Amino acid sequence: MNDTSIDYRRPPGPVRPVALGVDPETLAALEALRERFGNIVSVEKPSGRIAYFVNEPEEVRRILVRRHGKYKKGPGFERVKMLLGNGIIVSDGDVWRRARTMIQPAFKVQNVHRLIPAMVACCDKRAAAWAAVADAGGTLDITAETSAFALELILVSIFGDDYESRIASLPENPFSFLASDSVRDLGVVMKARALRRFLSEIIAARRASDIDRRFDFLAMYLSATDRQGAGFTDEELLDELITLIVAGFETSANTLNWAWYLLAGHPGVEARLIEEAERLLPNAGAVNADSISAMVYTQQVIEETLRLYPPVWLFTRRALADDALDDYDVPRDADIYLSPYLLHRTEAFWEDPDRFDPDRFESSPGRSQRERPYFPFSLGPRRCLGEYFSFLEMKIHLGLLLPRFRMLRLDDEDPGLELGINLRSKRNIRLRPERRVRQRHARPKSIRSKNVRSKNVRSKNLRSKNVR
Ligand code: HEM
Repeated sequence: MNDTSIDYRRPPGPVRPVALGVDPETLAALEALRERFGNIVSVEKPSGRIAYFVNEPEEVRRILVRRHGKYKKGPGFERVKMLLGNGIIVSDGDVWRRARTMIQPAFKVQNVHRLIPAMVACCDKRAAAWAAVADAGGTLDITAETSAFALELILVSIFGDDYESRIASLPENPFSFLASDSVRDLGVVMKARALRRFLSEIIAARRASDIDRRFDFLAMYLSATDRQGAGFTDEELLDELITLIVAGFETSANTLNWAWYLLAGHPGVEARLIEEAERLLPNAGAVNADSISAMVYTQQVIEETLRLYPPVWLFTRRALADDALDDYDVPRDADIYLSPYLLHRTEAFWEDPDRFDPDRFESSPGRSQRERPYFPFSLGPRRCLGEYFSFLEMKIHLGLLLPRFRMLRLDDEDPGLELGINLRSKRNIRLRPERRVRQRHARPKSIRSKNVRSKNVRSKNLRSKNVR
């Protein structure tokens, strides 16, 4: 608890205590606080703890990058710990540093490139299922589909051949509750325990096999060593594997969910993405590191989707020592709240912030973080390790599937926001797939013009509270 008897320079804020969590009420409370008190606000929580809500890009950088050692993970992470144990996302200090050193090599670009065929195969599987739905004139629960896609991909990436032989062959996928249970309650914890037992068997079998020349994440985690030459214990490995599964699929799945929704409402953007995909990925054989990195427009679409719907919409930290922000003092033990969701939609930094416009991310040298705060993957030493993996997977997913299927919205209703640990759509998004005839076409003139394009993307049914 903070010692409020000592005088310190405290930012403005309400006199009455404010409850803050990781929930929809918190977003509304933070918006109201910003409106009333400005970009750095202090509140007292009902527990008496002091919390700062920081909306200044420069100060956000200071906390996440330059002074990151003065902060540890904050409120909300206890709930995640029930599921992830002390894995890399929730740990701090030396435990985190050791895990990061051991895990980071597995995310090297050349290792991630080895997973391209698996990414293509997971898309092909979806395409086959979607074609059957399209032919039957049915609808797709795209929220469930993107979840299943991203979950299967992360499992194949972690377990390699063991996925087919040990997991896909089971009557029920023991990991699928991670994709369907959005509430991290006690039931999930029980299922997570059963999952740990199942994972222990796979680990034991791998440890017992003589020379393992595999390059999946499990093999790399098994051979990882710290500076003293020690590897992960079985318990540590279990925490890290569950962390990798949860971190590795939910975020990408949510981003793809929103991307399909946005594309279905923005035909101009969709047409440009298809043109790029047909040019660079004319067939599955053309999917390689070079062609994917050339998918510049698809990258912009994903970046813009992540601006509007950053899966980790709220970061929390707790001060380990006294610190200073701007003209204010941060007392030890104070909680810090940072919201990419709010900063990504702040008019002062982003013109017409609720409008979906991937052209914002056209490369423009000289733009700084101060000018345009953007941190869906966080910043600094704790920045996401899976950023490259996720862009590769999402570009391949959209690049292979969008040219094959037109997705039509069923209604104009806004899917709404579910603000938990991750930002999801409140209701599952249903779209009607139609097969497209794959064709090579010159880019239509109309979509080259910026003016016409911005008219296209201002679709009426997105003029809701979330996005235009
Ligand atoms: C759109 C996709 C993704 C987004 C937006 C995202 C976002 C983030 C964010 C914001 C953090 C930091 C959280 C914090 O500091 O409080 C993080 C950490 C992490 N992410 Fe991701 N992530 C994505 C995909 C992935 C994937 C696909 C993987 C693995 C394959 C992954 C693995 C990790 C790991 C291991 C960490 C912990 C890093 C550390 O604490 O040192 N992420 N991610």
